[in-house]
Amino acid sequence: MGLFSTKKTGFGLDVGSSAVKLVQLQEGSKGFTLETFAMVELPPDAIGEGMIKDPPVVVDAIKEVVSRAGVKTKDAVLSVSGRELIMKKIQLPKVTAKELGDAIMLEAEHHINLPIDEVYLDHQVVGQSAGQGGTMDVMLVAVKKSKINEYVAVVEEAGLTPVVVDVDAFALQNQYEMNSPETTAEAVALIDIGASIMKTNVVRGGVSIFARDIAFGGNNYTRAISQRLNVPFDRAEAAKKGEEVPGVRWDDLVPSLEAVSRELSLEIQRTFDYFASTAESERISRIVLSGGCAKLSGIDEFLSSSWGIPVEVVKPFQNVQFDPNRFPADDLYAAGPLLAVAVGLGMRRAEDKPA
Ligand SMILES: Nc1ncnc2c1ncn2[C@@H]1O[C@H](COP(=O)(O)OP(=O)(O)OP(=O)(O)O)[C@@H](O)[C@H]1O
Ligand SMILES: [Mg+2]
Repeated sequence: MGLFSTKKTGFGLDVGSSAVKLVQLQEGSKGFTLETFAMVELPPDAIGEGMIKDPPVVVDAIKEVVSRAGVKTKDAVLSVSGRELIMKKIQLPKVTAKELGDAIMLEAEHHINLPIDEVYLDHQVVGQSAGQGGTMDVMLVAVKKSKINEYVAVVEEAGLTPVVVDVDAFALQNQYEMNSPETTAEAVALIDIGASIMKTNVVRGGVSIFARDIAFGGNNYTRAISQRLNVPFDRAEAAKKGEEVPGVRWDDLVPSLEAVSRELSLEIQRTFDYFASTAESERISRIVLSGGCAKLSGIDEFLSSSWGIPVEVVKPFQNVQFDPNRFPADDLYAAGPLLAVAVGLGMRRAEDKPA
């Protein structure tokens, strides 16, 4: 940061169900540079499926991640995820930017099964037809205020200022566009599989054309291993990550891993079917996987062979500059899939959009 720089730089704070991750990026003329990052694990029952169950434990983890990262600012960019998020592409008669807010409020009532004063609404214009009297496509996002308030509360309790609240699926897209700036006409499915929620965002030409969160994640694998081998959750978790666990061999895990991967493939099928039933119904050309489950050995090949399309693991630091003496490249690449959402959040600036 230069002497005359006044631009406030916040940081991305991804409060996931298994860990809190922080990424701070500095924006310069040549793009983004990594300032710092850190991760702190959460016990399995602190957050379940995008709901904070044990706020004090989460507050402590946030304080810890801030202290480990050594950030000086208090401005945090957060996100939420979960199957209760409503993300829908709607069509509106073309209106001016000024009229859009009101038009969306009116239209949203038809698309959301909740009283409109109980939700926060957000939107992104994703397409317009040419000429006067045409229509515009808008991706509408609605999240219960009570859910946002839960996340805001733990972040404030940890002494931070939440400046933006985003959605995981869109943070993922931000990150993807920075790292793959060449926009193509192909539809690409960005899929983040965390510990408890799978988020899908189908993007094309720099806009989202479909988004959906469901309850599925690494915990499904860990629970299956724990039940089949009759070992506690934490040992099953360690074994799944390829760590040495006395009495558990990798071969013992394979049947559980395969069974859950088949379930995963079915869940992806369901999401793609749902996408195919929308007006877009386009062939998905590629999958970009992120989240901790992207690190599961062989998962990319498995999904690629079940889908017959290329499956890549996300590289959120591809176009981010960093000092290799402070951040060994191998560490950064290994942590990459877990940090994709936090990188996308770290790119946001408070002036982008008010919370
Ligand atoms: N090397 C690995 N092999 C297999 N699974 C892994 C590995 N590393 C992490 N995971 C799994 O990834 C999951 C954590 O990923 P991530 O940090 O993306 O989730 P989260 O953000 O906490 O959860 P969510 O986004 O669902 O709220 C855990 O289930 C963990 O077991
Ligand atoms: Mg996550």
